[in-house]
Amino acid sequence: MEAKTANTTRKVSKLAQNIIGSEIIKLAAEVNEKIKNGQHVYNFTIGDFNPKIFPIPAELKQAIIDEYLADETNYPAADGMLPLREAVSKLLKERGNLDYATDEILIAAGARPVIYSIFRTLVDEGDTVIFPVPSWNNNHYSYLNHAKQVMIDAGPESNFMPTAEHIKPHIKGASLLALCSPQNPTGTVFTKEGLTEICDMVIEENNRRGENEKPLYLMYDQIYWALTYGDTQHYNPVSLRPEMKKYTVFVDGISKSLAATGVRVGWSMGPKLVIDKMKSLLNHVGAWAPKAEQLATAKYLSDLKRYDLFLVGQKNNFTNVWMVFIKVFLS
Ligand SMILES: Cc1ncc(COP(=O)(O)O)c(C=O)c1O
Repeated sequence: MEAKTANTTRKVSKLAQNIIGSEIIKLAAEVNEKIKNGQHVYNFTIGDFNPKIFPIPAELKQAIIDEYLADETNYPAADGMLPLREAVSKLLKERGNLDYATDEILIAAGARPVIYSIFRTLVDEGDTVIFPVPSWNNNHYSYLNHAKQVMIDAGPESNFMPTAEHIKPHIKGASLLALCSPQNPTGTVFTKEGLTEICDMVIEENNRRGENEKPLYLMYDQIYWALTYGDTQHYNPVSLRPEMKKYTVFVDGISKSLAATGVRVGWSMGPKLVIDKMKSLLNHVGAWAPKAEQLATAKYLSDLKRYDLFLVGQKNNFTNVWMVFIKVFLS
């Protein structure tokens, strides 16, 4: 009888009933409404780019149009189009100091489905997921997976980045450590020493677990890595500690590097077994990047000098926008 009452008052699943949309998207919508109503607001909420100021590369735009004109409109390969996985593999090798074969790379419709599938693939109900706060959306992905959330308070003393010391008390038996560098929303990055200490701790915990226990994996979201400039250096766990390749699943893509948030091309690289399972999972969601966008991105990335030049242009663009902002702010 009680169950019947509950079912009639609740019209959707428990999961849907309690789901909360992304706070930052809500905030951004409120800010956009203010801008629409004529208020002068500097919008620092969401990691999106005004395409009038930060357009995608012209060659990428043209390549996307060309692929559609060539009728590349059917299903893409489930793990992503081979030319794109080849281009990503080369980009990672030549610019990211990472060695990943094409069957260790999965393409998806941006970083979000990649993160969703990492959580789905690695986290069981009740498993512990550790992540720092502030950070981006880990609370929601944990919720969707019925995970136990351990939030690490990363304050100004550690540049808003979590340290091995912060994490250590929580790692025994945890399933996933979710890290991001450069970090949204702080823009801060891991130091070489800080990330190395975390890697050593993850390796030690996994050596303690042995072969029959599910490992502690590290989700490493480096979607902003190409936007580091000047003295700021990006580090990744696998280059620092090659043994971390067994435990690290990366989140990456063109949304931020090519100012292409609406183009929807992202990728993950990690252990083949994990990538294969993520592929199967994403098959049921259908969150593939469109075939034309994939082929166009592959073409664009085939010329890494052009990619480098675009990033230099973006840096100058950022500087100009900041100069305008500071001038207006001080006037
Ligand atoms: C840290 C971080 N990861 C992932 C994403 C999502 O990227 P995408 O637009 O490729 O889904 C964002 C978007 O703002 C982000 O800030």
